[in-house]
Amino acid sequence: MKKIGVLTSGGDSQGMNAAVYAVVRYGLEKGLEVYGIHSGYQGLMDGKVEKLSLNRVENIIHRGGTILQTARCPEMKTEDGQKKAVNTLNRNGIEGLVVIGGDGSFQGAKVLSTKYGIKTIGIPGTIDNDLAYTDFTLGFDSAATVVINTVQMLRDTMTCNGRTCVVEVMGRRCGDIALYAGLTSGAEAIVVPEVGYDIDAIVARLQSNAAVGKLDNIVLVAEGVCSAEQVCADIKLRMPQISIRSLVIGHVQRGGNASFQDRLLGVKMGSRAVDCLVEGKTDRVIGIRDNAIIDEDIVEALSKQKRIDLNLYELANKLSKY
Ligand code: ADP
Ligand code: F6P
Repeated sequence: MKKIGVLTSGGDSQGMNAAVYAVVRYGLEKGLEVYGIHSGYQGLMDGKVEKLSLNRVENIIHRGGTILQTARCPEMKTEDGQKKAVNTLNRNGIEGLVVIGGDGSFQGAKVLSTKYGIKTIGIPGTIDNDLAYTDFTLGFDSAATVVINTVQMLRDTMTCNGRTCVVEVMGRRCGDIALYAGLTSGAEAIVVPEVGYDIDAIVARLQSNAAVGKLDNIVLVAEGVCSAEQVCADIKLRMPQISIRSLVIGHVQRGGNASFQDRLLGVKMGSRAVDCLVEGKTDRVIGIRDNAIIDEDIVEALSKQKRIDLNLYELANKLSKY
């Protein structure tokens, strides 16, 4: 293999740049030519290909976002779109492709490899941590850190006003950001889609806290359950006397420098993806399991069902009792 490509696709996440950095520099080190494809599958269809040099990826390892830009591209789901994508790769002599993205992007990678014979390797880049085959995805640690820092700031004002705040976090249908950030910020209640929304349990917790004079509470809600505004309204209906606010943290969860963990994961996964291509492997996705970097068959990986860590959920519930 002489020429490989790399693209970032779907929702951006911190650590994508660290992975791009590693794919480029490790790839060059291995004697490969490395091409960046701009704006995910859209750029692949449109032929937006750039030969990347060592200098081009200088000083990006820490940066959020992605220097390759990203996009959501429905046309990639059609045969027409897929053929355009394959043409770009063939025209440029690119034999192997590293796709950095979430489960949707991996579906695209699966099609390219299984239907068109392109050697593809996936790197899980999404803040949602919603891929079952890997313990962690790139960006999850940084996004959860944004959430815990936000909760810490909220605490200052909620505490001195004796207020409760309902905070909505991202994650699509996955509750991991809410769970891990809730556990590590001492949220008084955590609501995740995998467990469900129990307004009575939340109100019981707030009432028992109020009975002992604790009026500041953080209720962390995963967006896959319902909106913070809805939870706020439901609480207010049952506790009309409560002083309560709501906050949607939103896209800042995808912003800021990548954490140490995401940089480390990015460079380890990026270099492993290049190793896979050099070894002639294809249809693989890179992950981390029990602290070791792994590669696994893409079809097998995507067939696994993501589950929430219920032990961690129970622990958070126990630790946050007042
Ligand atoms: P993420 O990769 O973060 O999960 P999306 O679900 O939006 O984000 O997927 C990103 C892109 O992957 C889509 O815009 C589309 O180009 C491609 N994609 C998603 N699903 C498929 C599919 N079934 N077949 C081919 N390409 C797909
Ligand atoms: O998949 C990452 C993610 O940030 C989700 O947590 C969120 O639901 C979605 O993307 C937001 O998408 P957009 O950036 O298109 O608003």
